[in-house]
Amino acid sequence: MVLRYRNEKVTRETESSILNTYGRQQISFVRGKGCTVWDSSGREYIDLVAGIAVNSLGYSHPRLVSAICNQANSVIHTSNLYEIDNQSVLASRLAAHAQSAGWKVFFSNSGAEANEAAIKFAFKATGRRKIVSMDNSFHGRTAMTLSVTGQRKYWSGFENLLYKDVEWAEYGSAESLREKIDSDTACVMVEPVQGEGGVIVPGKDYLTQVTEMARKNGTLVIMDEVQTGVGRTGRFFAHLWEEGCRPDIITMAKALAGGLPIGATLVSGSVASAIRQGDHGSTFGGNPLSTAAANAVLDVVESSGFMADVSRKGEMLVSGLRRVFEKAQYVHEVRGKGLMIGLDMDSKSAAGFKSFAFDRGFIVNVTHEHVVRLVPPLVIGVEEIESFLSMARAFASSYVHAEPASGH
Ligand SMILES: Cc1ncc(COP(=O)(O)O)c(C=O)c1O
Repeated sequence: MVLRYRNEKVTRETESSILNTYGRQQISFVRGKGCTVWDSSGREYIDLVAGIAVNSLGYSHPRLVSAICNQANSVIHTSNLYEIDNQSVLASRLAAHAQSAGWKVFFSNSGAEANEAAIKFAFKATGRRKIVSMDNSFHGRTAMTLSVTGQRKYWSGFENLLYKDVEWAEYGSAESLREKIDSDTACVMVEPVQGEGGVIVPGKDYLTQVTEMARKNGTLVIMDEVQTGVGRTGRFFAHLWEEGCRPDIITMAKALAGGLPIGATLVSGSVASAIRQGDHGSTFGGNPLSTAAANAVLDVVESSGFMADVSRKGEMLVSGLRRVFEKAQYVHEVRGKGLMIGLDMDSKSAAGFKSFAFDRGFIVNVTHEHVVRLVPPLVIGVEEIESFLSMARAFASSYVHAEPASGH
């Protein structure tokens, strides 16, 4: 069957040609503006998922669209065999967010690739092979990144593929890390806030302790900022909330190019000095189009007051939700940093909230079955937050909770 994709109506038959790796909702979004998206039947929604923390500038942001169109009109792709001006500019802009001089950047196309590169670089720079990663973490679906993802459900059926020299520490516990790290450890992988794991924000100074402990052992810290980076938490990198935290490698993807695929692995000067030509590569990584988009995203995110505004809006959402659910026994916690927020409920209530919100035109995501995750575009407006909160209020006042509150 030949698909003429513009005119062909997507039917179960056409959809069934897609490999069955995703549990998909039967809905297709065809247009967006700001935080609003429209589905193929013309229904309107406020999107608090943003392509899973990707569409930080929302939809159809004029600066992003014009950067992409202008670049597409001149050249979309060349090759890393040649100089790419947008890439060089982007690399120096990203390196400027590190806390010391001399950082270098390798570009790829996704978060998993950025982490995969990070591990290769850490092995090369240290000559060691052991990794310490965190329980409940998520770092990607390639063989190596799956191996350092601390959630067993993702390993199922692929155990034979897993890299074995990985030790697991309890996320948020410096004590637990102390027991696992030693002079054979090449790197510690850590998310500054666990995203897929249910929006878990570690305690004060935890990340600083991680980097201090690693340094004492000659171990590198890979800070996975794939979900948290590019202003999501109100700082360019979430780990910058802790002044003493000094990672050696930082990985990025998701929001960096506002919706075009990109990954970036930032390495300190001393890690960079161990990497030689040919050690790693990518056909598409950092191509002219994706890096033009990323530069446009940075123009907006780095503009004066933008990240402070993210923090303010995040506080408004968190405090609003805490008020709405303060008497609701089925809500265990409202937590988050900036515009990365988790509403921890029992799983039945989380599913109920998601479908109640959807019926009223709000898109939210549930992770870990019991955490409603909100990662809206960073450009979300105060009025949109208010209307989301009034929808949440309507849910809280009408929802009849039938299960025991402890039932995750
Ligand atoms: C912290 C973190 N690292 C890595 C990844 C993997 O990114 P990708 O899906 O782009 O490979 C994700 C994706 O959700 C993530 O949240």
